[in-house]
Amino acid sequence: MVKDLDYVLYNGVKIPQVGFGTWQSAPADAYNAVLCAIKAGYRHIDTALVYENEEAVGKAIKDSGIKREDIFITTKLPADKKGYDVTIESFNESCKNLGVDYLDLYLIHAPWPWSNIGQDCTEGNIESWKAMIDLYNQGKIRAIGVSNFQPSNIKPLIEATNVVPMVNQIRFFLGNTQPKVTKYCNENNILVEAYSPLATGKMLNNPTLVEIAKKYNVSPAKICLRYCLDKNTLPLPKSIHDERIIDNILLDFKLEKDDIIKLDSIHDESLDKPLRS
Ligand SMILES: NC(=O)c1ccc[n+]([C@@H]2O[C@H](COP(=O)([O-])OP(=O)(O)OC[C@H]3O[C@@H](n4cnc5c(N)ncnc54)[C@H](OP(=O)(O)O)[C@@H]3O)[C@@H](O)[C@H]2O)c1
Repeated sequence: MVKDLDYVLYNGVKIPQVGFGTWQSAPADAYNAVLCAIKAGYRHIDTALVYENEEAVGKAIKDSGIKREDIFITTKLPADKKGYDVTIESFNESCKNLGVDYLDLYLIHAPWPWSNIGQDCTEGNIESWKAMIDLYNQGKIRAIGVSNFQPSNIKPLIEATNVVPMVNQIRFFLGNTQPKVTKYCNENNILVEAYSPLATGKMLNNPTLVEIAKKYNVSPAKICLRYCLDKNTLPLPKSIHDERIIDNILLDFKLEKDDIIKLDSIHDESLDKPLRS
């Protein structure tokens, strides 16, 4: 079962192959959804300080009865917080919210504040990265990485510290696979996590996708998620509906090569621009 499979990061840390997303889940929904997800077999939960649901996520993890060390928890340093001290403060705040004393993965949410996409924050990102490396070396985080970073944002971090991010979490779904950054990550042993793997639910009626889903007798959502796995990325589907949560992780089927080629050709221009996360 895919729910029992892991990727292995370059530092040897195992990370479950499917993570559960919680963006835009209000605390009460996030609590119920995470509880349902853990019951369904997810062992990897993705949140962020700015999602304002860390407390609910942490409580659901506790109430699930599954041991802390058996759940992989990711959270993120807010995109507008750049610098050494502010990174340590945000890390402590997230741990407090989640009710944990270590994180499995901590990511810089974006290379620039969402209010100023494209701003050059190289110096601030390097300082944040140094703080994350120190927390990692102190055993407070098991893996560190980035999100929404292009190669040009990653290279300065490596040049300044010699530490390569273990993960880059990027927007990745059928027809939007960011080949340049994905290739760079693959070449540098950086695991690509696929966020918005269902295009935030906006591509599930695509006729090619629907036709292929019928052939495999599964939902279009599952074709999207299987596609991410077949591209060696780690999908992070989000849902607040139990039946979808349970079904989305049952991915133990393989797509035929011809179908992957058909899926590769899907491109919906209306989905080129990301929503803010
Ligand atoms: N690092 C970043 O900057 C960043 C940005 C975006 C997202 N993320 C992470 O990636 C996660 C996933 O991305 P996302 O939230 O954009 O959305 P997504 O997983 O691509 O899609 C979620 C949407 O699809 C619907 N859905 C889920 N399963 C379905 C199914 N089987 N059939 C039909 N509809 C289904 C959900 O509705 P219901 O909830 O109503 O079921 C929701 O509207 C986030 O939650 C977050 O953890 C990170």
